[in-house]
Amino acid sequence: MTSQPIYLDHQATTPLDPRALDAMMPYLTTSYGNPNSAHSHGREAAKAVVTARRRVAHLIGAKNPVEVVFTSGATEANHLAIVGGALAKRAHGGHIVTTAIEHKAVLAAVQRLVDHHGYTSTRVGVDKHGRVHPDDIAAVLTPNTVLVSVMHANNEIGTLQRIAAIAERTAHRGILLHTDAAQSAGYGLFDTDELGVDLASLSAHKLYGPKGVGALYLRGGIQLAAQQSGGGQERGLRAGTLNVAGIVGFGAAAELITGDTVPSVTQIRALRDRLQDRLLDAIPGTSVNGHLSRRLPGTLSLTLPDVEAADVLDRLPDIAASTGSACNTGTSDPSHVLIAIGLTRPQARKTLRLGIGRTTTAAEIDRAAALIAQAAARHRPVRAGVD
Ligand SMILES: Cc1ncc(COP(=O)(O)O)c(C=O)c1O
Repeated sequence: MTSQPIYLDHQATTPLDPRALDAMMPYLTTSYGNPNSAHSHGREAAKAVVTARRRVAHLIGAKNPVEVVFTSGATEANHLAIVGGALAKRAHGGHIVTTAIEHKAVLAAVQRLVDHHGYTSTRVGVDKHGRVHPDDIAAVLTPNTVLVSVMHANNEIGTLQRIAAIAERTAHRGILLHTDAAQSAGYGLFDTDELGVDLASLSAHKLYGPKGVGALYLRGGIQLAAQQSGGGQERGLRAGTLNVAGIVGFGAAAELITGDTVPSVTQIRALRDRLQDRLLDAIPGTSVNGHLSRRLPGTLSLTLPDVEAADVLDRLPDIAASTGSACNTGTSDPSHVLIAIGLTRPQARKTLRLGIGRTTTAAEIDRAAALIAQAAARHRPVRAGVD
């Protein structure tokens, strides 16, 4: 019998919850109507989308479900928020503020504004725990600043940002505040009003929903310039026939989280801490990246003392994990996040990202800890002369 590797890459994606799949199935088979159609097939699909929108809104504390705009994922939501938000405020100014540790989708959206629309941007640095200081954001705001984008939780090191404190520094100046909440929403950690954001990006596949669907939270009254036009779907903000089955799966996953966050979060955090303790004991000289308490419950980023993370993973076919971030895979550049928190390039290459999820078991954690410790002990010197 071949067994599956132990899956410790929940930041890259989470397994689809079978209950979300069950909810989706009719919309992939018998209930195939286009929600824009006026007949009964269309109305059935439209009704399912209404329910899903309400569930996603409930998960994030949005007052009105119309504040949820469905997209193909957080990448698209980030682009729509940043490019669409900034362009809608062009008459007010042309300066964007973001941070050094954002997801590449955010950095690319800001760069698009700079390269193609004449905006300027400022990237604010973070401390060694990956936290941006709200006063450092305030310090770079100018009368020309129209939008600030700071991620809620980092996908590599798990650090959570003080978004509410940043909102206190932007709201009275009429500056749009966007946050990428792709990683935090699955823990029920993200609430639009508590954090005071205008725009937030979500992704279904990070919270046990399907891939290829996400949403932008858009606070009532905020204007955006649509980035895609056509059939006028999603109040004209995101044209294109809705991915009904995906949206239904997203809604089902959101509802499951709303009903279940506390037990899952407690269990995930306990397993993460167990893995952390075991590896710190077994591999002396290992350090933990990210903020120790203000961190996503399932994230463990470790810098090993003397072995490259890629080499460790190569020796571990029984573990599915990642070096740095999955989004950096395929490039040899060290993660910009790890460099931003002060790691050297060799240290960044010795960094392993482990992600615990709802289906992870204590037996898997114990086995993973033993295997990683063994692989790290079979030490090969880090290649010299690269840096
Ligand atoms: C923080 C963050 N933002 C955005 C994304 C992109 O999300 P999606 O895959 O839904 O486009 C990811 C996924 O890697 C992420 O971790």
